[in-house]
Amino acid sequence: MNNIEAINVKKTFKIRNAKTSNKGDASAPKFYALDGVNLNIQAGEFFVILGPSGCGKSTFLDLIGGLTEPDEGEILIDGKPVEGPGLDRAIVFQQPALFPWRTALNNVSFLLEAKKVEKNSREEIARKYLSLVGLTGFEDRFPYELSGGMKQRVAIARALAINPEILLMDEPFAALDAQTREVMQIDLLKIRDQTQKTVLFITHSIDEAVFLADRVAVMTARPGVIKTIIDIPIPRKSRLSNDVRITREFIETRHKLWELLKEEVVKAQKYSKSSIEDCTPADSRSIKKAPVLSIPLDTRSE
Ligand SMILES: Nc1ncnc2c1ncn2[C@@H]1O[C@H](COP(=O)(O)OP(=O)(O)O)[C@@H](O)[C@H]1O
Ligand SMILES: [Mg+2]
Repeated sequence: MNNIEAINVKKTFKIRNAKTSNKGDASAPKFYALDGVNLNIQAGEFFVILGPSGCGKSTFLDLIGGLTEPDEGEILIDGKPVEGPGLDRAIVFQQPALFPWRTALNNVSFLLEAKKVEKNSREEIARKYLSLVGLTGFEDRFPYELSGGMKQRVAIARALAINPEILLMDEPFAALDAQTREVMQIDLLKIRDQTQKTVLFITHSIDEAVFLADRVAVMTARPGVIKTIIDIPIPRKSRLSNDVRITREFIETRHKLWELLKEEVVKAQKYSKSSIEDCTPADSRSIKKAPVLSIPLDTRSE
């Protein structure tokens, strides 16, 4: 069981350089990064959140990971409120954030030390997950001896090694070259099939969303709310056996998502050129809210 639910989740941040604000002033102006997110992610689902840059995707994932708390609303995992990070949730970030002085094997076993797994078992588990991400033979390499894609594979192995129920992935392939990214997407689907995790995956790539997801939530530009959730009508198996990207279903779904997203991309670009004070939450508050959401393991403290 690892159902994730977000109920009317709001998150504000202070406007640091606002003319009227003083550092540490509790009454300093704030803006809504998230303004009432409702989501319900089912156990075992591969759920993708798609949205323009700055719409609050990472903010939302951090809340599920327990790295921050909502100002209003709540996040429940199997009906229980999230109260900080936990080993039931693993996070993979855009940058792999490996310890440079540890080998691939010791990077993967790191979180098992926190779980108090004894040394021999740690090594066995780390080898198993390095094998799962295709890195058998690279156990003793240091991060500087690995390519970008290999480092991200180590980060995924590290997340999986603690056997989390939920895998939170925040644009994990965004920094990779196009070919490596496609290979990683295929491998992630295979790993997901083998491990049966619930996955919450964040991206701003429509293609990536259609290829990976069971369902995709489109987020509005700042402040973020869920604009729409759509089912991806492509069976999981056919994604791995054919070049699914040239099928009619894939092309039509990609088009549908772009129609939903393009207005938000234009808004996000407009906001990025204006000051944050110009951005009121009024637009997004008028959007019909969809219900649901999701996951985490924290590596930021490294
Ligand atoms: N710790 C923070 N303090 C102040 N503002 C923040 C903080 N984290 C994020 N923001 C702002 O909140 C908005 C949403 O950010 P983020 O969740 O990172 O967007 P995304 O991941 O969708 O690109 C942005 O305007 C960003 O600048
Ligand atoms: Mg982000």
